[in-house]
Amino acid sequence: MAKLVRGFRDIFEPQSKNFTELENCARGVFSLYGFGELRLPTVELKELFVKSTGETTDIVQKEMYAFEDAGHRQLAIRPEGTPGVVRAYLENNFTQNAPVQKFYYVGNMFRAERPQAGRYREFEQIGAEYIGNSAPAADAEVILMLKDIVSKFGAKNYCVKINSLGCDKCRPLYRQALIDFLSKEKDTLCENCQTRLEKNPLRVLDCKIDGARFAGRVPTMQLCPECQSHFDEVQALLKGKIDFVVDPMLVRGLDYYSRTVFEFQAGDVSQNAIAAGGRYDTLVKNMGGPATPAIGWAMGAERVIAARGETPVAPVKSVYVVSMDKSCNETAFNIMQSLRAAGIRTEGGLFDKNVKGQMKQSDRCHAAYAIILGTDELAQKQATFKNLSTGEQQKISFDVLTDEVKKAL
Ligand code: HAM
Repeated sequence: MAKLVRGFRDIFEPQSKNFTELENCARGVFSLYGFGELRLPTVELKELFVKSTGETTDIVQKEMYAFEDAGHRQLAIRPEGTPGVVRAYLENNFTQNAPVQKFYYVGNMFRAERPQAGRYREFEQIGAEYIGNSAPAADAEVILMLKDIVSKFGAKNYCVKINSLGCDKCRPLYRQALIDFLSKEKDTLCENCQTRLEKNPLRVLDCKIDGARFAGRVPTMQLCPECQSHFDEVQALLKGKIDFVVDPMLVRGLDYYSRTVFEFQAGDVSQNAIAAGGRYDTLVKNMGGPATPAIGWAMGAERVIAARGETPVAPVKSVYVVSMDKSCNETAFNIMQSLRAAGIRTEGGLFDKNVKGQMKQSDRCHAAYAIILGTDELAQKQATFKNLSTGEQQKISFDVLTDEVKKAL
């Protein structure tokens, strides 16, 4: 039998409805903040992610679905959205014509991570990218927008952590201080962190194995005056509008971040970052554009849903149309279509089955009412309308059938 690939999922109703609900909720909030949807391709040149997400990141080193196509192009199925957004921004000349842009995207991302609860190989991200604004107001805006979505959707028990990773002036000094500190403990580091130590020492703080034991012991970041005042201002704007903590251990796993970074973490979800993001003030330039500041985030839809708990969506009441004889099929089918045209949820059409089979299906569909059509009904231009929970039934003339069904529902 055909089999699902490990780490991938089929999502049926009612679970799939949670995704639609979250997407609709996010779209409503995006619109309030003036963010417009950017629909991105799923496949990009592999090089895009190597250069932007970062060569030393787990995503690029181990998790990317990369392949060569028939034209010998090296491609990758997107592991994240930010590089594609920046590519689209540059390629479509926004830098010249309208440098300040607010984009959002909804789409599946792909990472060959070890599957476990809350960690999938294909997952949905809803993301936002605010390009062209270096002011702390942009940082506060995107963080509060994220909070608005998550809380409007109903996720509770999450905490917000923020930090500043500084800029090209202050980070190299911190990087060196970290290398000096961690080198003394090199032998105790896990295999991954021994490699990270030279290439990307900040990532050691984020390591699941080593990170926690360095909390409170590692040297802390000394921000340059500009970065410090930027970070102070971000915090001042957030105060009173959202509960947050400054966590000097928050470093993020992607290479392009500078200054503000943040995570929304849900304690009771095993993979605890439900959403995360930060500034990437050098990425646009590194990708060939003019120096352009930017900030954004992405939420993992599965994790936000898990943080809320799946709430069963109340089923819409439906009508099930049954035909008792071949000669009634066409009229029964036409009734189905007119009910639907009137906005009534209608099922039926299983006309190759006998009445018992059709009624059984109406039960499986949890229909509230059945409309039953036999040769007598057809001759009288009436349908039998049956309440499936009480068993009561009555004859209703075709002319008023739609109105009567509407009233009953
Ligand atoms: P990220 O931290 O790699 O950042 O992913 C963002 C969110 O996607 C995570 O917080 C998590 O909720 C979800 N996520 C990541 N991997 C998985 C997985 N394997 N299974 C389920 N959910 C997952 C980014 O992707 C950046 N592009 C965010 C950003 C936008 N930064 C600036 N702009």
